[in-house]
Amino acid sequence: MAERLNADARPEKRLFISLLTRDISLVAAFLDLVDNSVNAAVEPVSDRLKTANGYQQVFDDATVQPSVNVYLKLAEASVEVRDNAGGISAATAEQHVFKFGRSAEDADTRDRLSVYGIGLKRAIFKLGRQITIRSDHVEGGFDLKLNVDRWAADTTQPWTFPITRRDPVPPEKCGTTIIVSDLNEEVSRRICDGLFVGQLREAISRTYAFYIAKFVTIYLGDQPVEPMIVDIGANRTSETLEIDGVSCAIAAGIGDPQGGAFRDRSSGWFIFCNGRTVISADKSPLTGWANPGTGLPIFQPKHRPFVGHVFFVSDDPEKLPWTTTKAGINEDSAIWQEAKRHMVVVGRSVISFLDGRYTDEGTEIASADLRQVAQERISVLSSAVSARRSFTPPPVAQSETMRIQYDAKVSDIRKIAQYLRRPGMGGAEVGRHTFLYFLRNEVGEK
Ligand SMILES: Nc1ncnc2c1ncn2[C@@H]1O[C@H](COP(=O)(O)OP(=O)(O)OP(=O)(O)O)[C@@H](O)[C@H]1O
Ligand SMILES: [Mg+2]
Repeated sequence: MAERLNADARPEKRLFISLLTRDISLVAAFLDLVDNSVNAAVEPVSDRLKTANGYQQVFDDATVQPSVNVYLKLAEASVEVRDNAGGISAATAEQHVFKFGRSAEDADTRDRLSVYGIGLKRAIFKLGRQITIRSDHVEGGFDLKLNVDRWAADTTQPWTFPITRRDPVPPEKCGTTIIVSDLNEEVSRRICDGLFVGQLREAISRTYAFYIAKFVTIYLGDQPVEPMIVDIGANRTSETLEIDGVSCAIAAGIGDPQGGAFRDRSSGWFIFCNGRTVISADKSPLTGWANPGTGLPIFQPKHRPFVGHVFFVSDDPEKLPWTTTKAGINEDSAIWQEAKRHMVVVGRSVISFLDGRYTDEGTEIASADLRQVAQERISVLSSAVSARRSFTPPPVAQSETMRIQYDAKVSDIRKIAQYLRRPGMGGAEVGRHTFLYFLRNEVGEK
């Protein structure tokens, strides 16, 4: 019998500290920290957020008011993310929070944006080498001070993070503060490059457009981030389907022109998972574009008025088709594949209308006439909970005139001009004259 051996399959700390962190952008790392704060902010109503209808009802419920603030402070030497949500108890910190990856017993049915059990750890390692976390909770929170290099060099098994208990506090004093200092060199460089903060603001405003104003106020520096919501016209095609415990609402219609024009950043497909924007303004093969055979055509400027929404909801967020960074779609997911087939059909109804209306070169699309076609604006949520319906293109207006064009011999045109004693007459004039002559003398029109 063959000799049985046990091959070494122990994880390396380096995998988590310097390898997995390569797969996530710096923006996405910050969003991972914000995700946890938002997830904690919605926890009090999370039992109502299980379906698209539930989301709509909570959004319409005036008694649900934003109660959590998230503050992000970025400087060359350190970054800080602080919230006043419910905090993390010492027991939860001890048993769940710092585990790399979630096990079945870590799962919490109240989570809507927390899925894989990696976000916080990957984000702090991406940022820097000195980590301080302080969390206050009604049952008593904790403090953590972690020197990443020292922890990396320590080979003790199993891996642990040193935490100390904090005393219980009343609910209004709860919250979590994460400070990372001794930033990785590329991180300080990006934070100070004059572009990054703007990119992060835009990403937050897109990603949490639903959550901002209803559940949380997110400050970047001293300025609150405004939500960027892309509404859709009520004249739309929509469809809802249920795929393996995930509800999916798809809608396509005409967007809302900003400043009189349809903008690139607000056109294309928008994909939401549990209310978090995962993909924005997509015009790539990911969402079916540039696949004229079985999908949609190559996106052209004339398609700019197109807006499509796909709203996935599940009370088991692991079933949603997002990647672990939540900035992308798991394209192989059966749920995504099924949704994509429906997106193509829903999207085509609007795209063929735009194709028929504008030439390929047309980049300037008059927004006023399309506004009538689009009808009043409605939110993504209202569209996600509506019954199935179809986009109605406006009746094609019949033109009263038609252009007549044909070639005639120059010598013949001259002959007619001379006959009429008007030698300077051009071809178009001769054409018009002879046409009217026939109309009057043969047809008998006055
Ligand atoms: N600001 C916070 N407020 C309350 N709880 C938090 C906060 N940050 C982290 N936690 C807790 O820590 C846990 C671990 O966070 P982490 O981001 O590593 O994984 P996750 O959110 O469970 O999954 P994902 O990989 O999808 O982010 C969370 O599930 C949550 O319970
Ligand atoms: Mg998380």
